[in-house]
Amino acid sequence: MSEVLNSGQTPNQTPDQTPSQTPDQTPATEPKTSIWVCQYDNCLRKRSEAVLNALNAIELPAGTTVSAGGCQGQCHMGPNVQVFRSGDRPSWYCEVKPEDAEEIIQAMTPIKRLLNPRLHFY
Ligand code: FES
Repeated sequence: MSEVLNSGQTPNQTPDQTPSQTPDQTPATEPKTSIWVCQYDNCLRKRSEAVLNALNAIELPAGTTVSAGGCQGQCHMGPNVQVFRSGDRPSWYCEVKPEDAEEIIQAMTPIKRLLNPRLHFY
């Protein structure tokens, strides 16, 4: 006896599944945030290692990473931190202090007071 299928249903789907929902469908990926802290010459002299340590001391949300990075070409504005959020333009933060770490981790949008004015015009 042949099976009767509902409109749009494929042979391996149960009636309550739509064509876009399959049992082995992987969950949507979480947003990813990468934070790079310059650990080069001028920034190191301005305590960028303390900024990196402060960021690493915080429990990071899922999908967030903190890394030591190289020179970002804004040496006189250090310590410099770049934040890359999936689906958004990078944020270039300057003159970052260890006390800013928690706010950087928690922020879902760019922190205007930390944005490098030479690179961000909003
Ligand atoms: S030394 Fe940090 S941006 Fe150049």
